[in-house]
Amino acid sequence: MIAISHVGIRTVFFSGLWLFVIIAFFHVFYREDLASNSGQTDSLLDTKTTIMVTPSQQQFKDVKVRVHREFIIDPDERFLAYFAHSGFHNQRVALANAMLLAKILNRTLLMPPILFGPPIPWVRFDKLYEKLLVSTKMGLEHCWKIPDQIPLPAECLNYFSSTTVSWDFLFDMEPIREWHKIIDRWEPSYGWLSQNLRVSLDEDFHFIKDTTLFDYRIHDSSFASPQNVKYKRRLDIKKLEEIDKKVLHLGSLFGLHRVTVEKPDS
Ligand SMILES: *[C@@H]1O[C@H](CO)[C@@H](O)[C@H](O)[C@H]1NC(C)=O
Repeated sequence: MIAISHVGIRTVFFSGLWLFVIIAFFHVFYREDLASNSGQTDSLLDTKTTIMVTPSQQQFKDVKVRVHREFIIDPDERFLAYFAHSGFHNQRVALANAMLLAKILNRTLLMPPILFGPPIPWVRFDKLYEKLLVSTKMGLEHCWKIPDQIPLPAECLNYFSSTTVSWDFLFDMEPIREWHKIIDRWEPSYGWLSQNLRVSLDEDFHFIKDTTLFDYRIHDSSFASPQNVKYKRRLDIKKLEEIDKKVLHLGSLFGLHRVTVEKPDS
């Protein structure tokens, strides 16, 4: 009798222990699930970036990658615009050249955001403009709301492979913004520029269009620089300063020493 009841108590004890372990296990997992779900529904985010957690278990994590800034435009203000293209490193080189040129010309820099995703390689000016236009997510706001079970429509196929990110998201741009005025150019379209800068495409734009990747090189000195085989033509700062249109729009500004400053007072 004693032995039997002893076995009975042991069975109850081990069953109870197992039950406890199983409940604890589900409890922990259920809570983790809740936590990751609540992280996904931040309605304040204006740009969706997707980070793959594991290939089998696709989870999307929202990160705020655009820093929106208000800006006020001076009636006399003039602007410098260029096109971003290619990978991150090229975009960074171009931005450094653009900042230098904007400062020298006293033009507010219209800064494109960082383009992440399959690179948009350089092509001649008008073609690059078209490529940049179709790379935006304008009019595709419905794509990220399509449930996983439903196949993506054609226009959404590339939606999740690229994004635009503020330079301010990766770098402390504050000192540079204090050094010289910058306006974030959130859309590449001329229409967006016209609307936001209150300029007219017909009257206020001066374009310098590049036809090869290393087309123009910009110099502040009129001395003949050593022969440079890389760039096709030279543009002088003095000539650029004479352009009185509100928007001076160049193509690529990628390339080491694209803007060459030699005068000590530049
Ligand atoms: C630079 O441009 C601003 C307008 O944006 C103007 O008020 C200022 O006088 C200019 N500075 C020089 C040195 O020309």
